[in-house]
Amino acid sequence: MIKSRTAMALKPPPPQDIVIMGASGDLSQRKLIPAIYNLAAVSLLPVEGQIVGFARTDLGEQGFRDLARRSIQEYSRTGFDETVWAGLVPRIKYVKNDDHSYGSLKRVLRENERLVYLAIPPSALPDTITGLHDAELSQGTRIVVEKPFGHDLASARELNHAIHKVFHESQVFRIDHYLGKETVQNILVFRFGNSVFERVWNRDAVDHVQLTVAESVGIESRGTYFEDAGILRDIVQNHVLQMLSLLTMEPPSNVAPEAIRDEKIKVIRAMRPLNPARTVRGQYTAGTIDGQPVQGYREEKDVSPESMTETFFAAQMEVDSWRWAGVPFFVRTGKRLPRRATEIVVQFREPPLCFFEGTDVTHLPSDHLVMRIQPDEGIQFAFLAKKPGPEISVQPVMMEFDYSSSFMTSPPEAYERLLHDVMVGDHTLFMREDAAERAWVVVEPALNNQAPTCMYPAGSWGPREADQLIAPRKWHLH
Ligand SMILES: NC(=O)c1ccc[n+]([C@@H]2O[C@H](COP(=O)([O-])OP(=O)(O)OC[C@H]3O[C@@H](n4cnc5c(N)ncnc54)[C@H](OP(=O)(O)O)[C@@H]3O)[C@@H](O)[C@H]2O)c1
Repeated sequence: MIKSRTAMALKPPPPQDIVIMGASGDLSQRKLIPAIYNLAAVSLLPVEGQIVGFARTDLGEQGFRDLARRSIQEYSRTGFDETVWAGLVPRIKYVKNDDHSYGSLKRVLRENERLVYLAIPPSALPDTITGLHDAELSQGTRIVVEKPFGHDLASARELNHAIHKVFHESQVFRIDHYLGKETVQNILVFRFGNSVFERVWNRDAVDHVQLTVAESVGIESRGTYFEDAGILRDIVQNHVLQMLSLLTMEPPSNVAPEAIRDEKIKVIRAMRPLNPARTVRGQYTAGTIDGQPVQGYREEKDVSPESMTETFFAAQMEVDSWRWAGVPFFVRTGKRLPRRATEIVVQFREPPLCFFEGTDVTHLPSDHLVMRIQPDEGIQFAFLAKKPGPEISVQPVMMEFDYSSSFMTSPPEAYERLLHDVMVGDHTLFMREDAAERAWVVVEPALNNQAPTCMYPAGSWGPREADQLIAPRKWHLH
């Protein structure tokens, strides 16, 4: 009998140290330290073990504790509680990374097991992995590797190779924080917990699927990273393909992590590599967001004035499986779009006969399901209903599930769930080696043979070429 993950998840993990490499950086401050604090607040941290910050900056122990306190006060989703903090603070240590030998780090560690979070730039990964090996820290260690996992297929393979020289695959957790979101995990519950929808989840009933990851922010202070990466690498290769795989995979034979990951890789293999002719690349120019003027991408800090890097990407994708053959999947993602919204729309086919032609409503959208991944987390099902009155007149109406009103709480931060999963050794929500590599195979044709860069004003829904891509259908958010 396979234990459900929910049952497994509700106790503190075994004693272990938590090491954050790159503890002085943005991810550590905004996400990791607040997540550790929130796990402590609900007694889901190991009862024994230290939290060790490790970086080259000379913060000192008190300096790191002060930084951690400020991070929690600023970013913790549950606020700051002095009692929780008082329990946590003696466990917080800091080691300056000054020799790359990691001897000083090893001397501080107490437990036989540890989670080592590599919150460092991708370029620093190979040396860090070798350093852990040389300091004899590989045994008992679970490493968390952040996205981007490589820059292309060749570099992803090289990275996997470097990792496997030191770590067994069972010790490796390739993180995609989207998979830690409640709403993303709910895709599987929705599909496989409700037989009514699973029966129509196929090419017989579905006309097309849309997936949008929209951000109203620009590139913030990440100009150097973004110039090199672009949004295809930053969002599509990982978040978009991962969500798509959950949406399209076959039911696993059980809920064990490998059973789920086996089904995911099957469907990622069935995703046809992108056809550059069915892609749209865009870049934002100056415009207006929320009534405020914002600058164009080329005016951003650390961005070339002639940059051709894409801040918007859209594509028609195909999944060559028995279930999905012929169903187009339209995906798009962009910066400086009118609002932040990640949503999936499953548009069902129109009825075979239209009984209502000639009524006062001439064009009606057929029934569709909207999964709002963030914000306003929830699910909406739109269908047609007869308007009251003597005539046959119809109008779309909504059935609505809203996370906050149904559960009276906001979903926890993805990093809380994912850190806990690493500590209990659950790989379900992490990318396996083969999936990380195959995702590059899917996107690489669009990286190697780039469509022209189409400009769009900040505050719009992207270049009009993206509307032509989906025509005669329309984007749900427009
Ligand atoms: N920030 C996010 O929201 C976010 C989201 C998704 C993924 N990620 C990924 O997470 C990783 C960390 O991102 P970040 O935003 O925290 O970056 P960051 O703010 O630049 O911090 C990275 C930290 O790594 C350390 N570092 C830099 N170069 C190093 C080197 N050569 N060797 C060892 N340590 C080095 C730096 O600390 P010292 O100089 O003090 O050593 C720095 O504080 C990156 O791979 C990024 O792609 C970040």
